[in-house]
This record gives sequence, structure tokens and C-alpha cells, in this order.
Amino acid sequence: MAEDKHPLHPESSEPIEEGSDPSHASRPLTRRDFLIRSNAGAVAVGVATGAGFAAGLAQRPAQASPATPPAAPAVPAMMRRVTLDIDGRKYEVTVDVRESLWETMNYQLGLSNCNLGCDRAQCGACTILVDGRAVNGCTVLTARHGRGQEILTVAGIASGPGPQGLHPLQRAFWLEGGFQCGICTRGFVMSAYALLQANKNPTNDEIKDALAGNICRCGEYPKILSAVKKAAAEMRGERVSYSAPLVSDDVRTSGGRVEGAVSRQFEFVTALGTIEQFDELSLELKQRPGIVEVSGSERTVTISWDPARLDEARVRQILAESGHPVKP
Ligand code: FES
Ligand code: FES
Repeated sequence: MAEDKHPLHPESSEPIEEGSDPSHASRPLTRRDFLIRSNAGAVAVGVATGAGFAAGLAQRPAQASPATPPAAPAVPAMMRRVTLDIDGRKYEVTVDVRESLWETMNYQLGLSNCNLGCDRAQCGACTILVDGRAVNGCTVLTARHGRGQEILTVAGIASGPGPQGLHPLQRAFWLEGGFQCGICTRGFVMSAYALLQANKNPTNDEIKDALAGNICRCGEYPKILSAVKKAAAEMRGERVSYSAPLVSDDVRTSGGRVEGAVSRQFEFVTALGTIEQFDELSLELKQRPGIVEVSGSERTVTISWDPARLDEARVRQILAESGHPVKP
């Protein structure tokens, strides 16, 4: 579609008005265009200054010129020919030196392997790996990534087609429900991937630290944290189960409701300091076999459990073991 074409590329089919700047014809001014124009303005000033300097030189006595003029560049001065290595596949592209890796992947290569959120290095939705390091695809320049660097996107970590081919992180985000709208998910998966390559058994704080550059506007942080922990466990060779398989045969799920589970609200002896503290407790409780759902606030917690595995006394004991005893 015409609106998908990038203004930096000469092959764009956008109509260009006579006398106008062909790289910006008939498009609304975007933040990136503004930066590019500012840069172009600086270059123009530099060129004008250089021209004046050259004019001054022209008034001096003529000097011997080189015998052969320099060879014409193969590509325009602002363009570079690069070979990108993305998910193990090589792509030859000619790019504008101001073009981001995200722009090249989407506009030139048709790869939609990372999402665009803020386009200004603030949300992490576009996170990809370059030689194993998590970077923001919206901010790194393509022209600097065509010298053998290995670029890895969320599409490159799966081992095969279908659910069975998913990477443990992809499977964990899916089965643990670590997403709502999904805009942030690819970025979170890739930041977590980079973490788990270096640290096979990260603590909650280490996971939070590694994911600090990623923002989830839907607020699915507890489930994202839980998904990363479960993926890490699976990658260490441990047996991992998700919410549905934790429910025994006599507890059936229907339309998101757990049938047959026992549910009760408890009041903490000492209220929690913040709701974030509750999120961490909820995450910990959900790891316990037999507990199928946890909700609540700083003052109360409502727990649903599988009666074939637990009873109320055991649930109270689990809460006490977690450091948060509840009133009788
Ligand atoms: S889109 Fe790149 S950091 Fe937000
Ligand atoms: S799932 Fe919507 S922003 Fe994270």
C-alpha cells in the first residue's frame, strides 16, 4: 500500500510536486521527518559554508589538480549498501543512513517481527537482539548493522511450526496469560530471552531489572514475571505446569470459571504496604499446587483452590509460610 512506503526511499510511488523536496512530498510532518529536516538544514549550512570557503579558494592562484578525478560513489552519499543477518537469513538492502532497523525490517523487508510503540526508545516494544544484546529496534541505525552482526527477533527463537515449536518463553507468555493487547509482548519476550541466555535462574529482582526498559500499558506485570520464571524453569529442565493443568480432573474450567473449586476471602493480620506487594504474593501463591486463582488487595486475599488437593487449613498454612498470616 502506498502509505506503507517509506519517504526515505527513492522507489516510493508517492506523487512529488514540482520544486518540492521529493523526500517529504505530500506527507504530514512527523517527528522523524522533523529531525531529518533539521539535519538536512545543518548539512545545507555546512555546504553553504563550504561553498563560501571554496569561492575564497577560487580567488587564489590556480593550483595543480589531480590527474584523475575521484571515482563516483556507487550509492548516493546518504545511502549505504548493507547485508543484514536477521534470524539467520541474509538480506541485501540499500538504506538511508538515518533509517532505523525497525523501519528497514518493516518498510523494506516486510518483516513485522517487532512492534512499534513509542518510536523514541522509551517503551521497549521494538526490542530485538544484536549479537545477544537487547536493543531498541526503533532507535538503532540500520547502516551500522550490516557488518556481520547477528540480529535476532521473536520470529527467530522458535524451533519449529505450531505450538510445539514455540520457544519456552513464547509458550509461557501464552499459557500464563502474560499479555492483553500484545503490543509489548514481543519486546518483553526478547528482553527476557537476553536475560535467560546469561542467567538461567534469575530472581524476581533480576527479572524486573532486566525488563526495566519494557513497559506494558495493560499492566500485566505479575503474569509477565510469572511467565519468565516458568520459562526459566523449563529451560533448566524442570517440569513446569500452567494454570489449567494444575486443576485436577474433578475441577473443570468453563468460560474462564473454575467449576468445583473452593473459594474464600481471608483478611491479612497485617495489611500489605502496597498493591505491588500483593502482586508478588499472588505470583508466589499461584506457584503452589492446588491453588487455581488468587485475587485481592492490600487488606484481603481471595483464594480458589482444588479441594482434591488442599483444604482451608492447608491454605491458611501456605499463607502463613509466605509471611502473610490471615485472621481466623
Ligand atoms: S517503539 Fe522502540 S522503544 Fe518504544
Ligand atoms: S499487553 Fe498491552 S501493553 Fe502489554
